[in-house]
Amino acid sequence: MTAADPLHQARRALTAARRVTVLTGAGISAESGIPTFREAQIGLWATFDPRQLASPEGFAENPGRVWDWYQWRRTLIGNSAPNPGHRALAELQRRRPDLVLITQNVDGLHQRAGSRGVLELHGSVQRTVCSVTRRAIDADWLARHADDHPPPSPHHPDGLARPDVVWFGEALPADVLEAAFEAAANCDLMLVVGTSGEVHPAAGLPRIAREQGATIIDVNPQADAIREFADLVLARPGGEVLPKLIGPD
Ligand code: APR
Repeated sequence: MTAADPLHQARRALTAARRVTVLTGAGISAESGIPTFREAQIGLWATFDPRQLASPEGFAENPGRVWDWYQWRRTLIGNSAPNPGHRALAELQRRRPDLVLITQNVDGLHQRAGSRGVLELHGSVQRTVCSVTRRAIDADWLARHADDHPPPSPHHPDGLARPDVVWFGEALPADVLEAAFEAAANCDLMLVVGTSGEVHPAAGLPRIAREQGATIIDVNPQADAIREFADLVLARPGGEVLPKLIGPD
């Protein structure tokens, strides 16, 4: 490993950093077998129409189709496991308890890998809520109504069960977003893994960090919108390069 090697430089920058914030996207779960959204031909949006499946309008138009698509994603996620990239980030947080992990993913794999206090900007498919009140709906109720697509809500006569995820056009959870902005504004290094950097407000977080002087490390085998201003680019899959970046204890 030479001094000019981006991995060597990234390891040195990480070692020197006082406050680390991490932002992840669908790419970190790719090696767990969960499709990303925008990769050409293989991304979910190359096959499915996000307006129909990840929007309030799509749910209103055909709640059964949206419910079934998320049930498919839940099953896919349930059959997947955290990969070495998720585990490396959980290990980094064990060494740096003040590390803040922000994710755009809704698969819950960071938590299954051991990460704590994960800021889920776009919610989680592991939680189901009432479409009117947004109150949580428990698994027993869903099991009793497994033949309904979607199940009705126990909380409101007009409500239906929906995944607790942020759809296009919907507001992000204000408390989570506030904490994410705080973590971007107060870090001296942001590690960005597996995001195209195209969807705001998440995509604005690395810019906020950069503008206040943080070092930006981008981990992505492909070009992305972060790369144009990142200090260091590790153009390798997260599952391969994160264990090398974090290194043995
Ligand atoms: N390691 C790291 N990055 C990877 C890997 C990998 N093994 N495999 C793919 N990638 C990269 C791709 O090159 C791509 O740039 O992950 C990125 C995934 O980008 P998107 O599919 O756009 O996913 P993301 O950035 O998370 O999308 C943001 O858009 O559709 C909404 O709500 C959805 O949270 C999602 C948001």
